[in-house]
Amino acid sequence: MSRRRALITGITGQDGSYLTELLLSRGYEVHGIVRRSSVVSRSRIDELRLGLGGEKQSRLHLHYGDLSDQASLCKLIERARPDEVYNLAAQSHVRISFDVPEFTFDVTGLGAFRLLECVRRTAPEARFYQAGSSEMFGHGAPAPQNEQTPFHPRSPYAIAKVFAHHTAVHYREAYGMFVVNGILFNHESPRRGENFVTRKIAMAAARIAAGLEREVVLGNLEAKRDWGYAPEYVQAMWLMLQQPEPDDFVIATGEAHSVREFLDLAFKLVGLDYQRYMRHEAGFERPTEVDYLCGDASKAKRVLGWEPKVRFAQLVQLMVDHEVTRIKSPAAALNRVP
Ligand code: NAP
Ligand code: GDD
Repeated sequence: MSRRRALITGITGQDGSYLTELLLSRGYEVHGIVRRSSVVSRSRIDELRLGLGGEKQSRLHLHYGDLSDQASLCKLIERARPDEVYNLAAQSHVRISFDVPEFTFDVTGLGAFRLLECVRRTAPEARFYQAGSSEMFGHGAPAPQNEQTPFHPRSPYAIAKVFAHHTAVHYREAYGMFVVNGILFNHESPRRGENFVTRKIAMAAARIAAGLEREVVLGNLEAKRDWGYAPEYVQAMWLMLQQPEPDDFVIATGEAHSVREFLDLAFKLVGLDYQRYMRHEAGFERPTEVDYLCGDASKAKRVLGWEPKVRFAQLVQLMVDHEVTRIKSPAAALNRVP
C-alpha cells in the first residue's frame, strides 16, 4: 500500500507542530505550507526538520504558500496530491483580530474557502479538516456547548471562523466532499504562542520567580475558558478524518476555569502570590468579550472514542514547569519542547 500523504496549513503553529509529529509517527508523508517572513520562524518544527534526521525527516516537505494566494494553494495541492488536508492556518489571535479585521476575514475566513475550492478542483477525494473554534459560540450560549449550540460570534476572528465553518458544510453538502469541522475549545501547551494568556502567565510566573521580571500586565481575569492539552486535541483532528462519514465534532474537557484561577495556580506553583505582581491594563481587554466557554465533547467520546486526559491543574503545572526549566537550562528546554 502506498504511503498516505497529508497537507497541513499552519504547520509552524502550535497545533501544526504536534500534528506533524503525530502524522510522521503514523508513517505519513507530510507537506506543510509556510509563509515568507523577514525572520524565519520554524522553531516548533525545527527538531523534526533538523534534529531527527533519517527517514522521518525525509518524509517532511515544506513549501512556500499563503492562504491569501489561491494560485499558490492550488499548485501545492496538485504537487502534493494529498489524501488528507488539515487547514490549521489562521490569524488566530482574538484581540488582534479587532486591530486587523480585514486581514483576519481574508486569511481565517476566505482562506478556508480558497483551499476548499482548490481541493474540489484538483483533489476532490481528499479528506479535509477545518479548524473551527469555540469562539464561534460567543455570547450567551447555553452551556455546555455542543454541536447543536447556535453561534453568536463576538469578534472578527469568530465571524471569520463561522464563515469558514458554513463554507466547509456547504462543500460537504453541495459537492459530496469528505469535509469535517472540528469545533475545538482552547488548548494549550509549552508551544502555545507567547501572547495567549496561558503562556503569557506561565512565562511571567517563572521569570518573576527568577528575578528576571517584576510584573505581569493583563486584561480581563473573570472570563472562563475550557482549557485542554494541545497534543491530545490533534489526535482528535486525525480521528475525525478516519471515520466512515464526514461529520462535525466538539472537542473539549467539559471544565471551565477563569483566567484568575490560572494566574493564581501558576504563581502558587513558583511560591508567589499573584496579587503582588499583577497589573491590569485595559489595552489587553476586547471590545466584546466571550465570558464563558465550556464544551460538551460527548459525541466525540461516543463516535471517535476520544477523551481528554490532561486536566486543568496538570496543564498549568506542565506549562509552568517548562518555563522554569527554560530559564535554568535554555538550550535543554529549546531542544525538547514537550
Ligand atoms: P497558531 O499557533 O497561531 O498558528 C497559526 C498558523 O497559521 C501558523 O503556522 C501561521 O504561520 C499560520 N498562518 C497565519 N497566517 C497565514 C497565512 N496567511 N497563510 C498561511 N499560513 C498562515 O494557532 P494554533 O493555536 O496552532 O491553532 C491552529 C488552528 O486552530 C487555527 O486555525 C486556530 O484559529 C484554530 N483554533 C485554535 C485553538 C487553540 O486553542 N489553540 C482553538 C480552536 C481553534 P506563521 O508561523 O508564519 O505565523
Ligand atoms: N491574550 C490575552 N492576553 N488574553 C487575556 C489577557 C492578556 O493579557 N488578559 C486576560 N485575557 C483573557 C482574554 O480576554 C480571554 O477572555 C482569555 O484571557 C483567553 O484569551 P486568549 O488566551 O487570547 O485565548 P482566546 O480564548 O481569546 O482564544 C483562543 O482560543 C480560541 C478557542 O476558544 C485562541 O487560540 C483562538 O484562536 C481559539 O479559537
